[in-house]
Amino acid sequence: MADKTYPWKVMWITGASGAICGEVARMLSAAGVTIAATARPSERLNTLVAQSERIKPYPANVLDPAALKETVARIEAELGPIQLALLGTGMYAPFDLRNIELDGFHRSMTLNVDGVINAVAAVLPQMLARKTGHIAIMGSLFGYSGWPENGSYGASKAAVINLAESLSLELHNTGVDLTIVNPGFVDTPLNAAYDPKKKLFVMSAEKCARKILAKLPRKPYEIAFPREVSVFLKTARCLPRAISFPLIRWFVKNLQS
Ligand SMILES: NC(=O)c1ccc[n+]([C@@H]2O[C@H](COP(=O)([O-])OP(=O)(O)OC[C@H]3O[C@@H](n4cnc5c(N)ncnc54)[C@H](OP(=O)(O)O)[C@@H]3O)[C@@H](O)[C@H]2O)c1
Repeated sequence: MADKTYPWKVMWITGASGAICGEVARMLSAAGVTIAATARPSERLNTLVAQSERIKPYPANVLDPAALKETVARIEAELGPIQLALLGTGMYAPFDLRNIELDGFHRSMTLNVDGVINAVAAVLPQMLARKTGHIAIMGSLFGYSGWPENGSYGASKAAVINLAESLSLELHNTGVDLTIVNPGFVDTPLNAAYDPKKKLFVMSAEKCARKILAKLPRKPYEIAFPREVSVFLKTARCLPRAISFPLIRWFVKNLQS
């Protein structure tokens, strides 16, 4: 029996085997939503699928646009129209100014940006044709402002936030909604390489998933949390750089130690 809190019957999740989207898949499947779970084939994906008969595996690589289109067609033929797509693939690569690791930079730009637009391209045409649907994209608060040691992840998420703005402006009155989900630090394998002392206001993947699901049914343009980090970074974005740069340096020096 579907839980009336959530208006979706069929949902597609990319990055479904990951920490945050895996939690979303578990919570929504328990509430009666059928989940089409996409990630590359792995034990993590098998484990997720084994947890609920409502979670169906649709393994694919988000960097293969043709495979994603075929995957979406198969999901819709087998499960019905996708009402909500949560695009949650992503990676973090450390960024060392004195030893810039180009491979990590290129890989994160490719996965975090191309992986999102490939999935949008696969699912959006059908939603537009049906004049209904909802796409939620995992961004990050760190896309709002430059941050020390965050050159690759921050640049990729800034691109995703800008892409979401462009899409959302144009989707107006089409029946298709778009949400950008911008969390701060979440305790997941994605940022295992990041210095734990520097993870401000970090939360668990479960808490992150609950916060997303508390707002997603209302289809807001943005879901951003925690409030402290969100307000700080968005304010920094609006200030003249002569003020915001010293402010961020002060914040990093005093609050991360
Ligand atoms: N953790 C944080 O602090 C944080 C904060 C803000 C935003 N976010 C964003 O939230 C999203 C989820 O983050 P997370 O921490 O839950 O990450 P995660 O646990 O590392 O999960 C990443 C997911 O992406 C999948 N993936 C990676 N490459 C793929 C590919 N080429 N094709 C298909 N799937 C692929 C992974 O599965 P396979 O590798 O097995 O394919 C996995 O399911 C990301 O967009 C991330 O940037 C995270």
